[in-house]
Amino acid sequence: MSAPRADAARIAEHVDRLAERHPPIDLATADYAVRDPRAVRERFGLALDYMARVEMEVERNVLELAVLLPEVSESDRRFYADVWSPQEERHGVLLDTLAHYLGMPPVAANTEDVPRSVRMLGLLSHLTPVHEVIRLLYYLTGAATEKAAMMAYASMSEGLAEMGETAIQRTVVDAIKVQEPGHFAFYRLSAQEMVETGALAPWQMHLARLLRSRAYSLVGAKSEEQRTDFGGVIVELGLDEDLERSVRDISRLESQLLWAHDKGMAVPGYALKAFREAAADYRERLVGGQALVPA
Ligand SMILES: [Fe+2]
Ligand SMILES: [Fe+2]
Repeated sequence: MSAPRADAARIAEHVDRLAERHPPIDLATADYAVRDPRAVRERFGLALDYMARVEMEVERNVLELAVLLPEVSESDRRFYADVWSPQEERHGVLLDTLAHYLGMPPVAANTEDVPRSVRMLGLLSHLTPVHEVIRLLYYLTGAATEKAAMMAYASMSEGLAEMGETAIQRTVVDAIKVQEPGHFAFYRLSAQEMVETGALAPWQMHLARLLRSRAYSLVGAKSEEQRTDFGGVIVELGLDEDLERSVRDISRLESQLLWAHDKGMAVPGYALKAFREAAADYRERLVGGQALVPA
């Protein structure tokens, strides 16, 4: 692997640096002046609504993490409770406020119901060897989620610049975009540290591969409707123009760490299938004539 070696001290330093350099965005710095709200709504309404919901649901993700990782380390706890969630919650507020200025309905987010499947996994997680498998999956899921967010915000930023909507581009989307790579780096370093130090036995790596490939889920998509909405985000943001490349970028870390024995499987088939199906379902919905922007 070309990236430098990860170790616990480097991860702790990274978390300190993020806390220091990236305090949660000051809401007063956002400028919601929009030249053509209708055009922005039509082009980015669906993606904005989806991203705002995912950012706001971080509140529930923190509850889920407490259930899933009862033996959490101080570095992990500090990252998700003190650094990551306060930043993401502000991202949610900024996007929800922008949606309001664009004349969209308030974002409907599930911020408190921890699903039964998570509670079940949480019970198993009290067995330390299982806990460690779940911890690796948490890092890999986090890395894929952050990478997808980075790509989505980059596309939105570019589109808003093209439209001359520079106030919201710079003070909302770019302000958020700049905070996501640090999250990605945390998950990458943490997953690398686990795998490079041989923290998991072969059977644990096998279990991680099995769980990841059988229970792969698209970020923020728990229901059929949400999966189709996710398809809408990738289609509307142009990430499906070269879908295989997008999925390869999003999945690069798990390809390298989980599937190294498969020569780093260029694109995990389960991920590509999930993205393809979501995009196809969205296109079908479009043909059916449903509105792009939630009513
Ligand atoms: Fe975010
Ligand atoms: Fe993030």
